[in-house]
Amino acid sequence: MDLQTKNATATVQLGEILGSKLKPGDVVLLDGDLGAGKTTFTKGIARGLGIKRPVKSPTFTLIREYQEGRYPLYHMDMYRLENGGSDELGLEEYFDGQGIVIVEWSQFIQSELPAEFLTIKLTKDPADDAQRTIIFEPTGTHYQQLTTAVLSAFHHD
Ligand SMILES: Nc1ncnc2c1ncn2[C@@H]1O[C@H](COP(=O)(O)OP(=O)(O)OP(=O)(O)O)[C@@H](O)[C@H]1O
Ligand SMILES: [Mg+2]
Repeated sequence: MDLQTKNATATVQLGEILGSKLKPGDVVLLDGDLGAGKTTFTKGIARGLGIKRPVKSPTFTLIREYQEGRYPLYHMDMYRLENGGSDELGLEEYFDGQGIVIVEWSQFIQSELPAEFLTIKLTKDPADDAQRTIIFEPTGTHYQQLTTAVLSAFHHD
């Protein structure tokens, strides 16, 4: 299931719809190249969870926590784990907990991921700097239902 956003604001809006529907324990993997819009999308998720504090990229800290929303938000950027080292982070505590986990560059922690999650792929349009194609790839019933709810809410906007 895929759609296009014409600018960063639309990507934030889509993220906000997802954020408003996420439940404790949910895991969302954001795939896409550098600058595809993963962190931009996460800003919307945070907004949908009622988090007012600005969301900054966790590129150097690896994990940023936001406790002031409806549920805790854990935003991970695993880019720096290209050469391993994830086993020292205690990631299963985040995945098994009651917060919401958003992961950029999850391919570098593949062996630590839970059985089910929602993968969202963002790709740039070679012909249009501000356009993104965003594809939802849910595993399991819960994430399939979540995807249907998000996409129908976005299209009715
Ligand atoms: N349609 C769009 N959706 C999302 N971002 C867009 C869009 N159009 C332009 N942009 C811009 O592209 C950039 C995306 O940067 P962002 O930090 O979100 O990417 P990222 O995927 O998190 O990259 P990284 O892998 O480096 O963390 C931002 O500057 C944003 O304003
Ligand atoms: Mg990012």
